[in-house]
Amino acid sequence: MAEQILKMTGISKSYFLGGEEQMVLKNIDLSINKGDFAAILGPSGSGKSTLMNMIGCLDTPTEGEYTLSQQKVQELDEKELAAIRNKEIGFVFQQFHLLPRLSARHNVELPLIYAGVREKEREQRATEMLSRVGLEGKMEHRPNQLSGGQQQRVAIARAMVTEPTILLADEPTGALDQKTGQQIMELFHQLNREGKSIIMITHDAEIAKNAKRIFRILDGLLTEEEAGC
Ligand SMILES: Nc1ncnc2c1ncn2[C@@H]1O[C@H](COP(=O)(O)OP(=O)(O)O)[C@@H](O)[C@H]1O
Ligand SMILES: [Mg+2]
Repeated sequence: MAEQILKMTGISKSYFLGGEEQMVLKNIDLSINKGDFAAILGPSGSGKSTLMNMIGCLDTPTEGEYTLSQQKVQELDEKELAAIRNKEIGFVFQQFHLLPRLSARHNVELPLIYAGVREKEREQRATEMLSRVGLEGKMEHRPNQLSGGQQQRVAIARAMVTEPTILLADEPTGALDQKTGQQIMELFHQLNREGKSIIMITHDAEIAKNAKRIFRILDGLLTEEEAGC
């Protein structure tokens, strides 16, 4: 049986605005195995980013249970949450979020600095990871000297360099043209073949088709599509 790395049971999230409850996530069950490439597909306002924040331990649910790599997330304090986030999750965002004054290599080294890795090993691991995403010639370039697709590759290398359990991407092709977006999907395929578990959030059905499992979210309700549809 496949190793389960993430399990959500009955996860709900409510916001209270002007005394009124708005339920943004409704009783969500989700389980992800090692080696999965999953897409969560839904229109704007359906709750995708809210769910991503839950998966990434950036926010806590109003109700339900969440287990990530055998740890019950709701039992963790702030410090433990930061630790599990750094260890288990590699984040990729629509707008890349690179630091503009740093070279590609230094951007990728950043999470290793936080993890207390020494300079020599940092440099080696960042260089290796940038090669894996196809940027061997661009290590010393700064973000504004790179195309959008290349910047997203740097962001993916930064997310991967700490060897997280899950690569968690929120609209990773949202700021890219279609062709460049598909090249980023080829990179996701490659990383998934190499064993990386991927969860990708998107509003784009064509992009979602790259995944091996597709979940739809609508009005805070999550359902998985049957395989082969
Ligand atoms: N901090 C918040 N406070 C109140 N409502 C929020 C908050 N964050 C998100 N929402 C609401 O939750 C719903 C889902 O938002 P979101 O998860 O960002 O959707 P998506 O990423 O699919 O566009 C929206 O109706 C949004 O207005
Ligand atoms: Mg969103």
